[in-house]
Amino acid sequence: MALVRVARVDEIAPGTGKVVRAGETAVALFNLGGVFHAIDNRCTHVGGPLGEGGVQGNVVICPWHGSEFDVQTGAVLKPPARRPVATYAVSIQGEDVFVDVP
Ligand code: FES
Repeated sequence: MALVRVARVDEIAPGTGKVVRAGETAVALFNLGGVFHAIDNRCTHVGGPLGEGGVQGNVVICPWHGSEFDVQTGAVLKPPARRPVATYAVSIQGEDVFVDVP
């Protein structure tokens, strides 16, 4: 695993998400009320960009076909996706957000 700096804390407003790069991995990074969570950006349905999806509470809605995932656990909450997305550990150091990716 490698800790990679992906963003500044103030780049992602509370209640929103963003696609960031952590080396070769595209990560969907979310700010839930000041607590950051990271999941794989690729929806497990057919690869929609989850970091561009709408956020409602702890749920992200895939912009392509509407699957819903819990951004804290990666669990599928609504199909058509059936498989959970990978989650990555997030740490904050000063004003920077780091994600631990394989
Ligand atoms: S690609 Fe995400 S729901 Fe289809």
